[in-house]
Amino acid sequence: MNDRMTHLDVALLRRDFPILSETIRGKPLVFLDSAASAQKPRAVIDAMVGAMEHQYANIHRGLHWMSERTTEAYEGTRDLTATLLGANSREEIVFTRNSTEAINLVAHSYGRGILKPGQAVLISEMEHHSNIVPWQMLRDAHGIELRVCPITDAGELDMAAYEGLLEDRKVGLVAITHMSNVLGTYTPAARLCALAHEYGAKILLDGSQAVVHRRVDVKSLDADFYVFTGHKLYGPTGIGVLWARAELLEAMPPFLGGGDMISSVSFEHSSWARIPHKFEAGTPAILEGIGLSAAIKYVNAVGFDAIAAHEQALVEHALARLSPIQGLSIIGHAQDRGGVISFTMEGAHAHDIATLLDRAGIAVRAGHHCAEPLMRRMGLDSTARASFALYTTQEEIDILADTLIRVREFFA
Ligand code: ALA
Repeated sequence: MNDRMTHLDVALLRRDFPILSETIRGKPLVFLDSAASAQKPRAVIDAMVGAMEHQYANIHRGLHWMSERTTEAYEGTRDLTATLLGANSREEIVFTRNSTEAINLVAHSYGRGILKPGQAVLISEMEHHSNIVPWQMLRDAHGIELRVCPITDAGELDMAAYEGLLEDRKVGLVAITHMSNVLGTYTPAARLCALAHEYGAKILLDGSQAVVHRRVDVKSLDADFYVFTGHKLYGPTGIGVLWARAELLEAMPPFLGGGDMISSVSFEHSSWARIPHKFEAGTPAILEGIGLSAAIKYVNAVGFDAIAAHEQALVEHALARLSPIQGLSIIGHAQDRGGVISFTMEGAHAHDIATLLDRAGIAVRAGHHCAEPLMRRMGLDSTARASFALYTTQEEIDILADTLIRVREFFA
C-alpha cells in the first residue's frame, strides 16, 4: 500500500494488519477496541524486526557504523513527527514513553519550574486519569489550584464556564483533551487555545485519541503543548510524544536526570544538553521509535482526509444502527465527534455486555475507561465502548449491532 488514497479500500488495507485475520473461538475477530490500542500494520512489525535483524546499536553514543545508522533511523522519527504535527522544528519534539509520561513531564517541569504557587491549572470533567492525576500531584506539592471545567449533558465543554474559569487570569496552564476517549467528543481546540491565550494562560492538548483520526496542526491550533502516544497511532507501545514550543522547552528545567540529557557532568555541577535531548534521559525506546516512524509513514500514505471521512461514515452508521436498540443508551451526543461510542444497556452491567460480545468474537472495552470523574458526571459507574480505526468496516458495526440486539433479548 503505497499510493495516497482518497477513498479507503478497507478490504485492501486490512491485509496490511496480520492480526485482523485471526479468529476467536472459531469466529472472525471483530476488533472494536482501537481507542485502547490500535493493531499494527506489517510495515511497523517489519521495521522493528528488520532493525533487530540488520541494523541495531545504541544511539547518540557510538562512532561506529551500526550506531550511526540506528541514530539516523531513530532521529528520522523526530523529523516525521514534527511534520505530522506541523511543528516549527524537530527540536520541539520530545520522545517519552507515552502520553501519560509526556503530561507528567509538563506537570513536573513546567508545573514546578515555571508555574508559581497560587496560580491554577484548568482541566475538564472529561479528562482521562493521565490528565488529572499529574495535576493533583502538582497541586499538592506546589500549591497550585486545580480547576475543573464542567461539561454539558451532551458531553461537550461548557464554553461559558471555561471562559469564566479563566477570567481572573490566575490560570497559568490549561490541560484539556482534544478528543474524549469515552464520549468521542472533539473539543473546540482552536477556540480553547485562543481563549487561554486571551487570559494569559498556556495550553496543553491531550491528543492521544485525536491525532489518530484527523490531521493535527499545532500551529493552526495555536497550542503550546501537544501530547500523543505511538501505540494508538498504529505504532508500538513504549513511545510517546510531547510537542512544545521551543521557547517553552528552553525555559523548562529537565524532568529526569541521567545519561544523554547532559552537556557535562562533575560531582559539583551538571549542565544540560540542548532541547529536545535535555528531556530524554537514558537509552530511549530505539526500536519503538523506529516502529513509530513506520506507523507515521503508513498513516501519511493512507492519508488523513481519507481516514477521517471513513471514520465519520462509520460513526454515522454506528449511531444509526445502535440508537434504535431497545434499552441501549449512547453516552454523549457531541456535535463534533470521532470514532468512539460508549453505551449502556438497561439491566446489564457493562462487563456482562463485553463478556457476551467477546463470546461472539467482538472486542470492546468496558469499565470506567480511566475516566472515573467523567463516569460520575454522567451518573454512571461504567460503560461499554466500541472504538474504530482505519481498518474498521461497516460490516463489523452491523455484527456489533445484531449481537447487541441478542444481548438485549438475553437480559430482557
Ligand atoms: N486510554 C486508553 C483507553 O481509552 C487505554 O482505552
